Amino acid sequence: CGIVGCIGRGDGTVDVLMAGLRSLEYRGYDSAGIALGPSMRVLRKSGELDELAEVVETTEPTGTYGIGHTRWSTHGPPNDRNAHPHTDETGRVAVVHNGIIENYAELKAELQEGGVTFTSDTDTEVVPHLIAQALDAGDDPETAFHNTVDRLEGSYAIAAIIDGSETIYAARQGSPLVVGVGDDCTYLASDVPAFVEHTRDVVFLEDGHRVIATKTGYTILDGDREPVDVDVETVSYTAEATGKSGYDHYMLKEIHEQPTALRQCFSGRSDALAGTVTLEEIDEIPQPNAVQFVACGTSYHAALYGAAILREMGIPAEAYLASEYALSPPPLTLGTLVVGITQSGETADTLAALRDAKSRGVNTLALTNTVNSTAARECDHAVYIRAGPEIGVAATKTFSSQLVGCNLLAEELVDGPRDLRPLIESLRNLPDDVQSILDSSAAEELVEEYGGSDAYFFIGRGTNVAVALEGALKCKEISYEHAEGFPAGELKHGPLALVTPDTPVFAVVTGDDERARKTLGNIKEVQARGAPVIAVTDGKSNAAEIADETLMIPETEERAAPVLANVQLQLFSYHLADALGRPIDKPRNLAKSVTVE
Ligand code: G6P
Repeated sequence: CGIVGCIGRGDGTVDVLMAGLRSLEYRGYDSAGIALGPSMRVLRKSGELDELAEVVETTEPTGTYGIGHTRWSTHGPPNDRNAHPHTDETGRVAVVHNGIIENYAELKAELQEGGVTFTSDTDTEVVPHLIAQALDAGDDPETAFHNTVDRLEGSYAIAAIIDGSETIYAARQGSPLVVGVGDDCTYLASDVPAFVEHTRDVVFLEDGHRVIATKTGYTILDGDREPVDVDVETVSYTAEATGKSGYDHYMLKEIHEQPTALRQCFSGRSDALAGTVTLEEIDEIPQPNAVQFVACGTSYHAALYGAAILREMGIPAEAYLASEYALSPPPLTLGTLVVGITQSGETADTLAALRDAKSRGVNTLALTNTVNSTAARECDHAVYIRAGPEIGVAATKTFSSQLVGCNLLAEELVDGPRDLRPLIESLRNLPDDVQSILDSSAAEELVEEYGGSDAYFFIGRGTNVAVALEGALKCKEISYEHAEGFPAGELKHGPLALVTPDTPVFAVVTGDDERARKTLGNIKEVQARGAPVIAVTDGKSNAAEIADETLMIPETEERAAPVLANVQLQLFSYHLADALGRPIDKPRNLAKSVTVE
């Protein structure tokens, strides 16, 4: 979910809130709502933000401060009654919330026993009722807010307005919340893009912080209600960087931003002449005895790649799905490093896995795109991939940058000496190589030929397993077509039963080593069952001659090739989804950042 708040903007408040919600839509889009003071007017609507925008347009609500929410359902289906903001029975209190209140069932039972009637299925609704109860008991609004937050367990970012107090009250515990510091107004949001067009001065809150914002400024308090001094930081990205810049979709824009993202990720971190890589932020970490990666979704595929290259360098390394890690924790020995790969730095499953590892006494490291994210702050170390903001739900440029980040990490962590000049050159050339794919890809024509197939399969070996799995994930999440990725050798152990003339198989074949040769054998296996094969290849092997179709990538080092192969698959999925008219930036049922376990 995404939350916003704004105070001090007078009549512009509604516009600021709606624009803020628009830029947070990637965090969820099941329903949306706003609450305005001093009128305590609440508007909320299930469906995409446009539905709420229509209500706002027809009812023209006014307010001089307010809060807003865009929802990704966790408790209760996405309908009007479950949309935020939630209020108490008298409408004196309105609350928006991101996260999960774990003890809501007992709080709800207690409130119901006291005669309170609930009007939604959400965990959030306990909050306004508790605040109202505290007000009834004689608390002033600020005390009522604090006393309520003190009773909540779980993860939350909460913002509330209370009748008669011209204040926004907010609290952060385990879910993201940042404060935007304007000239004469204060903004609150789950993420900076919500207010970056108004201010780039940001306070990144810590867990336990509370914010009391009025039209004359803001105060940050700790859990003991004592004021704390938190630095205001100036963020470097602009509103322009969060717009679509003329592309039809954020995803396409972000695919095209990959040359820049890769350049940013790599720049200043290598010495081409000396053949060395330096990640200053972690140059004091000794070589780990083993590395365990934890991650979800696309980031998990980057983790598979990272583990594969570390193993090639002689370090025992594994990738774990974060959602499984803490439940079935793998043994840790002293000297194991646990690396969380997470674009957002806020994925609850990944944070839980990292916390589990930390609690067992090993060093943790976040490889993330989001400066000051929870993962970055909670881990012992953080390495930023510097891809810039990614809005499309389907991760593209952050995945490419994660792969480069894994190379930098591996080279920094594993003691030398090695001649890294060929690798450095290939990573340095990646932006140009990606650009040449963007300029010449045949992926769109393949959609004309193969769009409408029964299913799409993706195979590869070694580091290209990560590309095959990611190719399939991208395809299914944005096109809604059936797509699956496999290590190529596994095909014959089951999935081959699904292969028919109507299931194109994308085979990622780079280099000309044993892995490539074995994948060529797998290509023949599927062709024998009539499936058309699209080779994604650098031309080093004879995959292009064997396959029915080819998506070419420039020749490069083996470690860099997966980045390029993946760009071709991103383009295929994008054009397939576009041809099918799918809502590419906001696929159904998904959210960019999943902050619940
Ligand atoms: C969500 C997104 C995926 C993403 C995953 C992990 O499920 O829909 O695209 O890969 O979260 O996100 P993270 O921010 O941790 O990389």
